[in-house]
Formats: sequence, structure tokens, C-alpha cells
Amino acid sequence: MNILNRELFFNIFGSGSIDDELPGFTGYDIEPLIAFSRTFHPKTIIEIGIQRGATAKCLLDNSPWIEKYIGIDVTPDYSTPLSIQQQEVPQIAGEYIKDDPRVELIIKPNGSRDLIPSDLPTADIIFIDGDHSSTGVMLDTELARKVIRYGGIICWHDYGNSLVPDVTRVIDDLNTKEGNQICLIENGLLCFQFCREGR
Ligand SMILES: C[S@@+](CC[C@H](N)C(=O)[O-])C[C@H]1O[C@@H](n2cnc3c(N)ncnc32)[C@H](O)[C@@H]1O
Repeated sequence: MNILNRELFFNIFGSGSIDDELPGFTGYDIEPLIAFSRTFHPKTIIEIGIQRGATAKCLLDNSPWIEKYIGIDVTPDYSTPLSIQQQEVPQIAGEYIKDDPRVELIIKPNGSRDLIPSDLPTADIIFIDGDHSSTGVMLDTELARKVIRYGGIICWHDYGNSLVPDVTRVIDDLNTKEGNQICLIENGLLCFQFCREGR
């Protein structure tokens, strides 16, 4: 795993500082996402596991150039493969951003598992933060890699989070197989890859 020093990251990609309250799930990991947005001006973002939309709201409020923000989640009756994730399932997915005209919510009984690549538009940034089981992370990575545009960025949250160790395992395995294409930002749980394959 390549680990990018946090200060160096912001030197390269610009500041990710915001005045807003930090979103509960991503905390300071919102800053690299904001920095990517400010630098690359993505038109289309997909978030797998949008929950109530706290991270999405921060990104949308700080990125007037975003034209489409697709949030994917499950219906409230969903049983998560990892019991620790059950309490994350929202009653109203995307409730913080549902009135933003740029937002499209895709709420399915099995979330992203119910989707195929042709259900989604080509995206400039895809943020994977849904099912943190091995199968879930693998399926979301495969889906994301089929819909990301060439040169787009895929981000994964919760690398190194000991409560959901499968995320780390899957990313480590991918890096071993693929030659460390996924990079961790130091002092956080966010990984990213610039995609040299894609639509
Ligand atoms: C850690 S929370 C996401 C937090 C959110 N990304 C944020 O930053 O505010 C995980 C979310 O993934 C959702 N989830 C679980 N399995 C999913 C699946 N297969 N497809 C899409 N979302 C899923 C949960 O319902 C929950 O909302």
C-alpha cells in the first residue's frame, strides 16, 4: 500500500478545508474529497452507501460545478451482511439532500447489489462507502470500475477501520494483485485510485 502524506496530498490537490460541520461518517476524510472536487470539477459523482446524505451535502454545498450526484442505498428493511453495519441503514436515505435538483437517489432492496453498470451513468468520481463485507466491497469495486470514466477517481472509505476489517483486506488483496494502484491518505481512512481503465 502506498501511503500519501496528508500535507503532501493537500499540496498536490489543493485545500479541502470547509467551514461546514464535518459529516459524522467521514469526518476529516471529507477534506480530500472536497480537494478532489475543487481540483477536478467533477460533473457526475456516485456515492455507494449515501446514508442520510451528510457527506453528499458537504460535497454538493461546496461544489457548484456538480451536475449530477447519484446516491445509492438500501431500503430500511435490509439486513446488512455485517451485523455491525445494521444501525447505519437509514430510515430515509438521502434525506439531507433529497431536495437538491442535482441529486438522484437509487434505493433498492439490496442496494448496489441490484444494479448493473448500464443502470448508471459514467461518473467522474465514485465514492464507495456501502456494504463493508468482503463480497460487498468487491462487488462495489467491480461495479465502480465499469462505470468510472477513463481518468476518473474511485475512493473507498474505512480502510484501516478495525471495526470493518474486510475493507482493508479487499484493498490489500487488490493492491497485491494489481501493483499498488490504490493509495491511502495518511492519518485517515480514505483510499483512492486514478483509473486508467474506464468508459
Ligand atoms: C457507513 S454508512 C455510509 C455513510 C455515508 N457514506 C456518509 O458519508 O454519510 C453505510 C451505508 O451503506 C448502506 N449500504 C449497506 N449495504 C449497501 C448496499 N449493498 N448498497 C448500497 N448501500 C448499502 C447502509 O444502508 C448505510 O447507509
